[in-house]
Amino acid sequence: MDITFLLNGESVHLADAPPTVTLLDWLRETRGLTGTKEGCNEGDCGACTVMVSEEGRARALNACILFLPQLHGKAVRTVEGISGPGGALHPVQAAMVEHHGSQCGFCTPGFIASMATAHLNGDTRHDDALAGNLCRCTSYAPIVRAAKAAESAPIPDWLQPDLDFFCPEISRGSAAGAEPPAPLHAPETADDLARLCAANPEATLVAGATDVGLWVTKQLRQLDQVIFLNRCRDLQGIEERNGVLTIGAGVTMDRVLDLMRRHHPSYAEMIRRYGSAQVRAAATIGGNIANGSPIGDNPPALIALDATLHLRHGDTRRDLAIEDFFLSYGKQDRAPGEFVEAISLPASAPRLKVYKLSKRFDQDISAVCGAFNVTIEEDRVTGARIAFGGMAGVPKRASAVEAALTGQPWTMETIEAARDAWEQDFEPLSDMRASAAYRLETARNMLTRYFLADHGGAQSVLEVTA
Ligand SMILES: Cc1cc2nc3c(=O)[nH]c(=O)nc-3n(C[C@H](O)[C@H](O)[C@H](O)COP(=O)(O)OP(=O)(O)OC[C@H]3O[C@@H](n4cnc5c(N)ncnc54)[C@H](O)[C@@H]3O)c2cc1C
Ligand code: FES
Ligand code: FES
Repeated sequence: MDITFLLNGESVHLADAPPTVTLLDWLRETRGLTGTKEGCNEGDCGACTVMVSEEGRARALNACILFLPQLHGKAVRTVEGISGPGGALHPVQAAMVEHHGSQCGFCTPGFIASMATAHLNGDTRHDDALAGNLCRCTSYAPIVRAAKAAESAPIPDWLQPDLDFFCPEISRGSAAGAEPPAPLHAPETADDLARLCAANPEATLVAGATDVGLWVTKQLRQLDQVIFLNRCRDLQGIEERNGVLTIGAGVTMDRVLDLMRRHHPSYAEMIRRYGSAQVRAAATIGGNIANGSPIGDNPPALIALDATLHLRHGDTRRDLAIEDFFLSYGKQDRAPGEFVEAISLPASAPRLKVYKLSKRFDQDISAVCGAFNVTIEEDRVTGARIAFGGMAGVPKRASAVEAALTGQPWTMETIEAARDAWEQDFEPLSDMRASAAYRLETARNMLTRYFLADHGGAQSVLEVTA
């Protein structure tokens, strides 16, 4: 695959980039840039973090689960290029020295890449920005102090080429025929993608590769046919019309977070705890739905919002209520060669609350994720959409609980009376994240919490610990 990108300020052109070689392996083994470290090789520790810029915005990404073709048209900075000519230190590097932010140093290049990215974007939410970087020996206080100390320093001029980088070979979705044709395995329009998927129904679609990357690095799977979605602009749009938000399947979770902060704050608070900054910058909403995981964090919220999935096979499009997409464990209502094009949901749902329960606050998969959207009129429940992840082999509605609530007064007695309904809806598994009994009890407790939040009871504490 033919790709061009900027590496530490220099243009790199690979005429035949292998589709499933990771950036980390290529940097270390082919380019000898060993500053970027390998820790977990599965997106969890952040030792491999690099800064990747595109159209003036920088993102921290985990190089261990980033395939080379995903870099086409972007600007990559490793720790070697974050420092400037003659070894000049970037302000975050100088601050790390000043504030004793490094001991063994193994994690430090990854921290520097995350900190330099946040610095370039003017992002001062340091805890969030660094939640995907694991340090075993320094402790976080000096590192966060260093990040704060560097906040107001100017962006070093040697990073400017990254912000200005525009790869002339990349089509920007302009008039047909005006640009060179895209390579077959990285289509730039939804029409090309649809044709390619229909003709190659067995091909693996790669969006952010936060799942697929691990198939390669951990399961050592050989992927024979790969179609990359990241260059398909038609999948990256966000549109609001007549009270409906339509989000392209290729929109990354960091953009979904920004969007939900404006439209569904409780959903946004859950996404803040979705993976880490590095994972959110790569993972797409379409990938999180299409993978059919019973513990994916978007589906419960989307089911509670009665979202619609837009699927496409060739020229045929169909719409599906998202709750009907998940058929059984590992099986979704998606034909070979069909793909998720977009998701539509209401732009406003003031009664939506989403609660994620996991062992760690940051960077952890849900044991249980519950979403509640209960309508109350004159103190009576007039409608309820309640959905859970982690409680069954698929993300699923709590239909019996909804029925037990609907038509009843919105009181604690009604919540208590619905207690037995939970067992009609769910028979959760026991696994390393939680026992079946714990999952059922916490699901019940989440409804109580939703009720209490509605009545101001301990609301502030509950919201802070969401
Ligand atoms: C460290 C780490 C932390 C994580 N934390 C969380 C978390 O907190 N919550 C959570 O829910 N998930 C989490 N995940 C899982 C992962 O981020 C999500 O499942 C992610 O959203 C997948 O999206 P992607 O774009 O990376 O998909 P990919 O890995 O590219 O693809 C995933 C699957 O979906 C298919 N696919 C992708 N796009 C489409 C499409 N448009 N149409 C049809 N099929 C498609 C692919 O073929 C593949 O089968 C985590 C992963 C990692 C590595
Ligand atoms: S090596 Fe751990 S996130 Fe990449
Ligand atoms: S300094 Fe040793 S792991 Fe962070």
